[in-house]
Parts: sequence; C-alpha cells; structure tokens
Amino acid sequence: MPHPAEIPKRIVFTGGSGLAGQHVINKLSQHGHQILNIDLSPFPDPTIHTLKADLTDGHQTFNSLSCHFKVSEPFLEPVKTPDAVIHFAGIPRPMLVPDNELFRVNTMSSYNVIESACKLGIKKIILASSVTTYGVTYAEGDADWASFPVTEETPTTPMDVYAMSKLCTERIAESFARRFGVDIYCLRIGAVIPEDRFDSQFQSYVEEPEKWKVHGWTFTDARDLGNMCHAALLKDGLGFQIFNAVNDEITNYEETEPFLRRFCPNTPFTRKIEGFDGPISNRKIREMLGFREEFPWRARYKRENDEK
Ligand SMILES: NC(=O)c1ccc[n+]([C@@H]2O[C@H](COP(=O)([O-])OP(=O)(O)OC[C@H]3O[C@@H](n4cnc5c(N)ncnc54)[C@H](O)[C@@H]3O)[C@@H](O)[C@H]2O)c1
Repeated sequence: MPHPAEIPKRIVFTGGSGLAGQHVINKLSQHGHQILNIDLSPFPDPTIHTLKADLTDGHQTFNSLSCHFKVSEPFLEPVKTPDAVIHFAGIPRPMLVPDNELFRVNTMSSYNVIESACKLGIKKIILASSVTTYGVTYAEGDADWASFPVTEETPTTPMDVYAMSKLCTERIAESFARRFGVDIYCLRIGAVIPEDRFDSQFQSYVEEPEKWKVHGWTFTDARDLGNMCHAALLKDGLGFQIFNAVNDEITNYEETEPFLRRFCPNTPFTRKIEGFDGPISNRKIREMLGFREEFPWRARYKRENDEK
C-alpha cells in the first residue's frame, strides 16, 4: 500500500495554460495527480479540463475551487474538496499591461485564491512567486544583489510593480497561513526556460555571462518546476514557507565564487559557495522538500567544441 503522502492528489491549478503551467501540469500528470486547470484560455491537451474563470473576481474564484474536476453526464460523484491549489495565474512580467493593472490582477487573483482555498478547507496552497523580489531583475538601473549566496533570508528590495505584487502575495499568504493553520509554500521561481528556448538561452548564458546578473546566473527548468511542485505536494506540516525554486548550478562554466567576486566586487558573501553551486541557493527546497534536479543544464548543453 502506498504511503499516504504518495497517494496522487486532486489539484486545482490556476494559470495552467501559460508558459510554465503547461509543463508543470504535464509533469504533475506524469506523477499521477488529477488536475483541474483554471484559466482564461484553454489547455492545449483536452484531457486536462479547463474551467474558464477570471480569478480577479472573488465569486468566480470561490466557485472554481469548489466544483467538479470534469464534465460528466450525469455527475455521479459529489463535489470533493481538492487536496491542494497551485496558483500560477497572473501577469508574469512588467510592461505587458499598465502597472496598476498588473498590480490589480496579481494581488487580487492571489488574494481571492488564498482566501477561497482557506475558507473551503483546502489544506495546501502553493504559489508562484519570483526571484525578482530580490530587486535586481527589474530595477531602475544596475542594482546589486544584497549578498551571496542569495537565500530566502536575503532582503527583498524591489522597485518594480511585478516583484512588488509578488511580495504582496507572499504577505497575504503568510497572514492567511497564520489565521487558518494551513500550509502555504511560496516558490520564488527563476527565469523559466522551456525546452524549445534552451539552446539559444544557454548559448547566451555561457558566452555572454556579463548580461545575466539580472537572472542571478540561475534559471528554472519548466519540468523541474513540476518536480518542485510535486515535492511541495508531498511534504505537509511546514506552515508558511518561502523556497527559492531554481536550478542547482551557476549557468556558465566558471566556478561560482571566483566568478561572482569578479563580476560583483562590492557584494558581500554570507557563506562560502562550493564549486559550481548556484548564486541563488536552492538548498532549502532540496533539504526541506527533498527536491532533486532531474534536468541539469550541463548534461543538455552542447558547446560548439564539444562535438569535435
Ligand atoms: N515565466 C517566468 O520566467 C516566471 C518566472 C518567475 C515567476 N513566474 C510566475 O509563474 C506564473 C506563470 O508564469 P508564466 O510565464 O507561465 O505566465 P503566462 O502568462 O504564460 O501564464 C499565465 C496564465 O495565467 C492566466 N491568467 C492571467 N490572468 C488571469 C485571470 N485573471 N484569471 C485566470 N487566469 C488568468 C493566463 O491566461 C495565462 O494562461 C506567474 O505567476 C508568473 O509571475 C514566471
């Protein structure tokens, strides 16, 4: 008999039709979980049911989190409370819509999802936050990382509306977790790189590392993000938590600490960084959730000279 923690979960996933969500849902399905996607757009694979809803509307959100997982003639089973909500819906960067609209969509949809989930008795909520909260990616001008390695304790100092909306979401989550005693895990995701963009992105990461301070020389493989969500589903009882949801190693071939001392001479180190360990540390998600990277970039990236 499987351990209860390994029994597949019934998950409401928001924003699953987007860039990251599609890969994450595919991975979660491979792990055996049952998914209802809530999005404004349909999911490309019709075996994943999409309920079309605008999550900035509290009524629609509450209904979406308390309905069947697929259509049936007739409906034979009563509606069941989902085991978890994974909330990815939102605007994923500045300059797609005006700033105040981004703030409205990201904070209101998060508030509605968290409040509805808590009031419906859903015990696990996983949220898409972002490493942009550390304030470098969308800074006005060239900002420094506060210290290396970047951990979940590193100060968050954003100037832009997107990162600000993610920080607000984390604060909403912390407050609801305290009030309802549920588990809410915030994943501070790095730049999500799907497979079809891997080669071009890594060519730049490797050959032009001076450009990628804004990503903290770190990324998030979209399928490994699915593995991180899976790990978060299996581990209960941690209350409110923030995890850096990024890959293991620096995104070029130089050892991390000498590289960072050269590129960021004014940034202090809070501990030694071993070998090629990432400048943004994923130690916490590995140690507390047991995440193990399945798609390390070095195993996939072919330098021009490697073939010869
Ligand atoms: N892509 C990245 O590099 C990255 C990095 C860090 C964090 N994130 C976060 O991960 C999540 C997913 O990002 P993505 O790149 O897949 O974005 P995306 O824009 O590709 O997908 C977002 C999805 O949310 C849906 N959505 C937007 N507003 C909605 C609403 N009001 N109601 C219902 N659905 C709505 C969209 O239709 C879309 O399918 C976002 O929260 C984003 O901020 C992304």
